[in-house]
Amino acid sequence: MNSKQVVLITGASTGFGRLFAETLARKGHTVFATMRDPGGRNAKNASEIRTLAEKESLPIHVLELDVTNDASVDTAVDAVVAKAGRIDVAINNAGYYLSGLEEAVTSEQAQRLMDANFFGPVRVNRAVLPHMRRQRSGVLMHISSGAGRVVLPSMGLYCASKFALEALAEAYSYELAAQGIESLIVEPGQYETPIFGNTVTAADEARANTYGAAKEIPAKINAALSSTAGNAQEVADTVLRIIETPAGDKQLRYFVGPQDFGVDQINALSKQVQANVLEALGLAADTKFLKGKAVGSV
Ligand SMILES: NC(=O)c1ccc[n+]([C@@H]2O[C@H](COP(=O)([O-])OP(=O)(O)OC[C@H]3O[C@@H](n4cnc5c(N)ncnc54)[C@H](OP(=O)(O)O)[C@@H]3O)[C@@H](O)[C@H]2O)c1
Repeated sequence: MNSKQVVLITGASTGFGRLFAETLARKGHTVFATMRDPGGRNAKNASEIRTLAEKESLPIHVLELDVTNDASVDTAVDAVVAKAGRIDVAINNAGYYLSGLEEAVTSEQAQRLMDANFFGPVRVNRAVLPHMRRQRSGVLMHISSGAGRVVLPSMGLYCASKFALEALAEAYSYELAAQGIESLIVEPGQYETPIFGNTVTAADEARANTYGAAKEIPAKINAALSSTAGNAQEVADTVLRIIETPAGDKQLRYFVGPQDFGVDQINALSKQVQANVLEALGLAADTKFLKGKAVGSV
């Protein structure tokens, strides 16, 4: 693989996605910064990115991509391949935070969340994989969360969306190992991005009102998370380091956070248990990509 890579990022209008685009492009990687509606609601963000690219001569291209729409995903991926001839890395970053007691989240809100945070990556991965298979190389990167490994009250549906993403990404890592395509997971802790301002709150207040003191849990958690949030550039630097790690040397999971809750310990144990299961089911040879790495390093 060429050391300068072609990278598609979803949700690059703000936050992590935008920082990833700038950080990777400054190192010479060709970045397709995709977002919803760059000609409308994200026109200002799109124009700021284009202006920066021009000013610093950065290889960043802005493209439209709504992860909840199959046709939008396919069109964007086709445009990347038409322009760059290949696609080396797909960063599944688009997503949002839903906060509230689980019973107060309507089924429509729950479905919408899963559509962006989980089905979005399902769509993007299916769109990019035929191109990666043709190249016999590629990286599927999934921006999960520490909340993809631990569970907090009032974050249950958000956690569910990230737990689901983790399962998808891990299964892909086993299935694609023999084809030279890597699937990996980044698990950020709490970081300063517009995510807290963009939070969707549970709509059924009447249900929440029956919970007494527990009704205050979402506000308590959100205050604690935003007051301890770290500098998002740490996550962008981690993503850059991962992308520049040679094929075959990458880990399945990377936790990065301002506080250490022990997620690395969960990941190390999980890796060991997964290796045992794969071995016991006679799948170790099929998943040699995973087995080749020392159990215990995550
Ligand atoms: N910040 C944290 O503490 C933290 C911690 C762990 C994980 N994460 C994860 O990091 C990712 C990025 O979040 P962020 O913190 O950078 O927050 P953010 O600034 O709010 O960025 C979220 C991005 O996702 C995009 N998005 C939402 N729905 C979309 C859709 N249907 N199609 C395309 N794009 C869509 C948003 O686009 P619009 O501008 O169009 O709304 C925005 O660009 C998310 O997956 C989040 O769960 C964040």
